Amino acid sequence: MDLYEYQARDLFAKHGVPVLHGTVAETPEQARQAAEDIGGLCVVKAQVKIGGRGKAGGVKLARTPDEAYEHASAILGMDIKGHTVGKVMIVAGADIAHEYYFSILLDRSNRRQLAMCSREGGMEIEQLAKERPEALVKRPLDSDGITPEVAREILTDAGFSADEIDVLTPVLVSLWEVYVAEDAQLVEVNPLVMCTDGTATALDGKVTVDDNARFRHPDHEDLVDRKSEDPLEAKAKERGLNYVSLDGEVGIIGNGAGLVMSTLDVVAYAGERFGVSPANFLDIGGGASAQVMADGLDVILSNERVRSVFVNVFGGITACDQVAEGIVKALDLLGERATKPLVVRLDGNAVDAGRAILTEANHPLVTMVETMDGGAATAAELAAQK
Ligand SMILES: Nc1ncnc2c1ncn2[C@@H]1O[C@H](COP(=O)(O)OP(=O)(O)OP(=O)(O)O)[C@@H](O)[C@H]1O
Ligand SMILES: [Mg+2]
Repeated sequence: MDLYEYQARDLFAKHGVPVLHGTVAETPEQARQAAEDIGGLCVVKAQVKIGGRGKAGGVKLARTPDEAYEHASAILGMDIKGHTVGKVMIVAGADIAHEYYFSILLDRSNRRQLAMCSREGGMEIEQLAKERPEALVKRPLDSDGITPEVAREILTDAGFSADEIDVLTPVLVSLWEVYVAEDAQLVEVNPLVMCTDGTATALDGKVTVDDNARFRHPDHEDLVDRKSEDPLEAKAKERGLNYVSLDGEVGIIGNGAGLVMSTLDVVAYAGERFGVSPANFLDIGGGASAQVMADGLDVILSNERVRSVFVNVFGGITACDQVAEGIVKALDLLGERATKPLVVRLDGNAVDAGRAILTEANHPLVTMVETMDGGAATAAELAAQK
């Protein structure tokens, strides 16, 4: 999960990284009040989970509370690369002497954590890496992470002066603490600034926390932005289903991630002929019960874009008769809400019993098919018709 800047800022503060005091506002009036409380120069910053806010006009300096009000009016509701701004953060203006770059990230290809540091901050890091790679220090970390010694080495390699190194060393160590203690996969500070009074501050923060470590962090639950969560993904999660929304028209249900992924491929391929594509990824898992099947169908059919559904199940631990019962039960439960054709391919454990159940039910929306390719083609064709 990517965090908003204000959430990253709070985590930084919790672990002793120097940050500026900030207030989150959802209305221009709140922004004015926040600016009054700060008293003096402040910055109004769009809170969006995407880079390049400043360039898009989402970061503005305000000299007075009235200016903060005006900037907030302009920024709230603004669209930044497809992200609508719902909140701004009002922070005190910093007297910046220098802007630097620092990040820690999970370098998957080398199976390590990697620290990156540059004396040239502010600029986008991708651009810096391309245009002035020599100005960007990359330091693979071992399990000790960033100790004061490692921080000093990184800062020395990046060309910082002795005084700067003294000030920045504890900041880097604290950022490592954020990374470890919060189970992060990315901690980025751009810019990390040196102020004219010789103190350092993390002026902008991007943090990604590992969702698979959520069980260790009950408090991260509060960081989830329910408003911008996909409502169907949220509904599926509540029911313990692995569901991912895509933007096509053919709903897909399968058991096991491998089978579902190959089903996505064959549907995408078959869909090319009809101008349709997969609408989602839904894995009902290994030991799926009839209820799980019903929940899965319910989630998929709630998606208005879906025009047909392809159920592709290979019976294993979950035998085909249970799956077939699940489909019948789901259609029963959904009643009139089930209006879209279902293409069902069953194979594996208890396939004959499963097919017999569907034949018996003889539901007008269900078409049984023998093969996965055939099923994908039928589902794509049905989606194109409607
Ligand atoms: N509190 C502040 N006081 C003074 N200047 C600031 C402050 N916050 C930001 N700035 C200036 O605005 C620039 C952009 O700010 P910031 O890094 O927060 O946004 P951004 O880089 O555009 O956003 P993103 O990192 O999401 O792409 C900074 O490099 C800095 O020069
Ligand atoms: Mg930035």
